[in-house]
Amino acid sequence: MQDILKQYETVTEAHVTNWFNVGQIADFPENSGACVKYKTKQIAVYNFAREGKWYACQNLCPHKMEMVLSLGMIGDKDGVAKVACPMHKKNFSLEDGKNLGGEDLKIAVYPVKIESGNVYIGFSD
Ligand code: FES
Repeated sequence: MQDILKQYETVTEAHVTNWFNVGQIADFPENSGACVKYKTKQIAVYNFAREGKWYACQNLCPHKMEMVLSLGMIGDKDGVAKVACPMHKKNFSLEDGKNLGGEDLKIAVYPVKIESGNVYIGFSD
């Protein structure tokens, strides 16, 4: 079961080798998430319109290995953008993937860029 987690590794902008086009801005609901597929990965993408920002992370919640994070509520905690898993409400930073409750759980996050109305997520594989 843990093996499925291994394919998710945080990518920083400096390490992007492939900006993958996941659609147009209008394809993504404002202030909530959507799920896209990249190779074997499910990626949650958030159009955080309230903040004028976009975020992407693994869709897999590492707590009970559920593919649900794209359905989570987004918000912020002390100025850090976060998603709350819809299952048991664990909160993860969308900036560095840390569990905001201090638990030893983390999620992979990916950079997002917008160009000419298109949404791209950065991967290194
Ligand atoms: S499955 Fe996400 S918090 Fe439990």
